[in-house]
Amino acid sequence: MNRRIVYLDNNATTQIADEVKEIMRDNEDLYGNASSMHTYGRSSAAGISWAREEVAKLINSDSGEIYFTSGASESNNMVFNIFRDIIDSGSDRNRIIISTVEHPASIETAKYLEGKGYKVSYAPVDNIGRLDLGQLESLLSNDVILVSIMTGNNESGVIQPVKEASELAHKAGAFFHTDATQAIGKIAVDVKDINADYLSLSGHKFYGPKGVGALYVRKGAPVSPFVHGGHQENGMRAGTYNNQAIIGLGKASEIARENLETERKQLWALREKLRTGIEERIPNVVVNGSNDENLSLPGTLNVSFPSAEGESILLYLDLEGIEVSTGSACASGSLEPSYVLLAAGLPVELAHGSVRFSFGRYNTEEDVEYVLEKLPPVIARIRQMSTRKA
Ligand SMILES: Cc1ncc(COP(=O)(O)O)c(C=O)c1O
Repeated sequence: MNRRIVYLDNNATTQIADEVKEIMRDNEDLYGNASSMHTYGRSSAAGISWAREEVAKLINSDSGEIYFTSGASESNNMVFNIFRDIIDSGSDRNRIIISTVEHPASIETAKYLEGKGYKVSYAPVDNIGRLDLGQLESLLSNDVILVSIMTGNNESGVIQPVKEASELAHKAGAFFHTDATQAIGKIAVDVKDINADYLSLSGHKFYGPKGVGALYVRKGAPVSPFVHGGHQENGMRAGTYNNQAIIGLGKASEIARENLETERKQLWALREKLRTGIEERIPNVVVNGSNDENLSLPGTLNVSFPSAEGESILLYLDLEGIEVSTGSACASGSLEPSYVLLAAGLPVELAHGSVRFSFGRYNTEEDVEYVLEKLPPVIARIRQMSTRKA
């Protein structure tokens, strides 16, 4: 008998959509170097150009503004690198602002720069984990060159006020970057509406392949080479193209754009079914982030279970075939409480006991019912053990 698996870790990564697998398979012999002038080369170049259009359409940009990368970590690094170059060239503006709840792909890059002597300020969040715009405004002055705020948080699911943050950044004369990795394919993301100068996204978070993503750079915004070498990506990111992966990203973008609103509603319904079910069945739970549809990514539910360690819950659920996460996947393996939840003021004990359920396109109501059957006894058992220990 096959073991039942309920995958609820879609914020860590998603499975590749069948349509994406199919187009990648159809193009498995597309090995021509897209920079070659012959027919094979031109076929590859045509596939890449189609994918660039699809990524551009997904975020309402122009295809000339899309740079393919290996994923969002690289895209974020590319942005910080651009401003490092500008600061190194003696710019009067030399401070970068990020929020305290950015993904490690931004926070660790900013800290690395700070360690090298660059000036970085951290904009705090309120008690649901949403950027405090007043605090951001007070941090802004004429020495700030870049503000980087994520569109939606990977742990709490909180949607950030990026449009307002972008406006404040621009008013102060700074550029604005948003890491939209978790928001893409879940809520509408429009670079013109946000008025973003830069935006990062990653294929594997929305049913595309791993190791491919993109950076949007608004036409006219500064850009500088990140990987030196050949002339690919306008000389900004050298290296022979991974044709299949890029075409897969194009397909994932097309599907995400066509199904956005239907999927958003589906994810929210599953999230709410699980949330209300947990609140009905398990005493003393704290839902982190927001239960407002306009303030939360639709598929993310982060819950703290006082007197139960997140890691224990994860392991017991895994035995039942339910795959969830504590904190961010990148921080797992460490027993540090989630810095994202701590930044929103959650006490350490509750941050330790938090579990992230993240839904995706392939989850069903039966999945939620299965979790609602298995989770309450797991929590009761762990709580019982922890009181015995105490
Ligand atoms: C908000 C956010 N930014 C960046 C990343 C890194 O993306 P990638 O795996 O494509 O480097 C992630 C992945 O967890 C993320 O959630």
